[in-house]
Amino acid sequence: MSVETTQDESFKNAHVLDPAATAVSQEEISEEINDIHESYRQEVLAGKKPETQPRVDFAPYRSSLLRHPTKDLHHTDPETIELYSPAFGQRDVHALEADLTIQHNGEPIGERIVVAGRVLDGDGRPVANQLIEIWQANAAGRYVHKRDQHPAPIDPNFTGVGRAITGPNGEYSFTTIKPAPYPWKNHHNAWRPAHIHFSLFGTDFTQRMITQMYFPGDPLFALDPIYQSITDQDARDRLVATYDHSITSHEWATGYNWDIVLTGSNRTWMEDEEGDH
Ligand SMILES: [Fe+2]
Repeated sequence: MSVETTQDESFKNAHVLDPAATAVSQEEISEEINDIHESYRQEVLAGKKPETQPRVDFAPYRSSLLRHPTKDLHHTDPETIELYSPAFGQRDVHALEADLTIQHNGEPIGERIVVAGRVLDGDGRPVANQLIEIWQANAAGRYVHKRDQHPAPIDPNFTGVGRAITGPNGEYSFTTIKPAPYPWKNHHNAWRPAHIHFSLFGTDFTQRMITQMYFPGDPLFALDPIYQSITDQDARDRLVATYDHSITSHEWATGYNWDIVLTGSNRTWMEDEEGDH
């Protein structure tokens, strides 16, 4: 499956919305988020185990209400599936694919950044040879996609997709442009915090996981029902990269660090493949 295919799925789902949903105000959405979070905090105080994953049934995320799973997923034999599924090997990915700023004749507009980190398992061991794919909006908050009609400019020098294979210590590094927030149709005046989508394939197709990385201090965090569908503050914080001056390079790019933990209590939240924007 290509990154483009994934974007198709995202937008197809993102824009199939009840027209009445856009009449809902940010205040109503924020109030619902706060109520759910307050109930969660009370449950944790009463001894409930902290949640690490997003709520699938999260009412403020209006566009997910009719399409989130309500039953246990159908379990299949992964070995059978893998006979027919694509698998990526190290030789299929070129090192230059991790630089999203060199895919066209000119340089993209925006703040050049490096996002680097490690993929780790629940015991802190590095996960080597891991395919990571990313996709993102440009510096104006626009995706290169026919379903994105947000009136912000497309950058002819920026497609917004890249991929990399983790090194022996689980390390990865992408050079890209800092994406901007963009509007979406969940409710009236809804804006997503700036984010980069990440996909990890595991060792085979059936282990694919998808998540989003955010930037520190984004004022839109509190307002975003996707980010807030993770009720636990610590789990939400794990999706936010850290500014890292050691990754920043002289007169070239600012740097962010973001580690991805695949299992265990500190695991990074991974979303349902149908639920991203
Ligand atoms: Fe997005």
